[in-house]
Amino acid sequence: MAVLADTRYVPPPVRADGAEGTLAWLRARVSRFSTGPEHAERRRLLVALLDGVDPAGLREAARELTRERGGNWRGVPVAVLGAALGVEDTGAVPAAADGYLSGEESPQADAAVAELLRQADISVITLLLQAHAATETLVENALAHTRAAADGPIGNVLAGAAANGLAAAAPAWAGDVGALLHETLRHDPPLKATRRLDARTGDEVTIDLVAVNRDPEVFHDPERFDPARGRSPYLTFGSGVRPCPAPHHALALAAGVLEGLLP
Ligand code: HEM
Repeated sequence: MAVLADTRYVPPPVRADGAEGTLAWLRARVSRFSTGPEHAERRRLLVALLDGVDPAGLREAARELTRERGGNWRGVPVAVLGAALGVEDTGAVPAAADGYLSGEESPQADAAVAELLRQADISVITLLLQAHAATETLVENALAHTRAAADGPIGNVLAGAAANGLAAAAPAWAGDVGALLHETLRHDPPLKATRRLDARTGDEVTIDLVAVNRDPEVFHDPERFDPARGRSPYLTFGSGVRPCPAPHHALALAAGVLEGLLP
């Protein structure tokens, strides 16, 4: 938390000479990789956009779209967020998101960025690219835990099988999608690490979010997956100067997808 709150630690710099409209060009223009007043201004635009998107509406739309697609939930989080931000076709998001954090460039990623720029401005694209992989990984991990928790269909756990007379197959937290998601976020953060550069020494610092979230001095029996532990101070959404600005939106999208998978 001390490193993440200290402006001396900055995101590792990205190249600034990418051709206009490419992934490299985009990365040089987003909040995520900028610092100082430029970061503050770019982040302000994102927060203003997010303020106009109601998480409860995202949850409902994600639930409906997941049902409409017969449970085929891949792409749902970003389609729902895209619709809320005025982007009709989010099909290019996965290819652009692939290299967004890593910086790995490819003709496919550049073509996807070009396609998104035809539909939206940089702030909206940033939100879609940041949202995509992390939210889908959260859903995947939560589903894996429901499978691990019950022998019966996953729907039994999500629907609260204990209340439906299937107590033998379901754990005590069955039916509490929020508890499932929070403990999944603690136990299995979608982004496992984040990096900073010490602006004075040039040293690189890696913050291991898995280790942080399992600190035995903070979390009782930290290795154990236990949704009943309630809200805990995990750092999955970051902290300090540049935490995720959208934890409520992420949780709403994931909860909606899970509800849409209920029988
Ligand atoms: C489970 C899902 C998500 C997780 C775990 C997650 C996690 C994170 C983390 C850890 C950071 C900070 C990285 C750092 O400090 O180096 C971050 C930044 C960010 N996230 Fe998320 N995120 C999620 C979903 C979303 C969603 C749905 C959106 C958009 C609606 C979003 C938008 C952003 C943006 C724009 C930033 C950069 C903030 C800045 O530049 O100041 N994230 N996220």
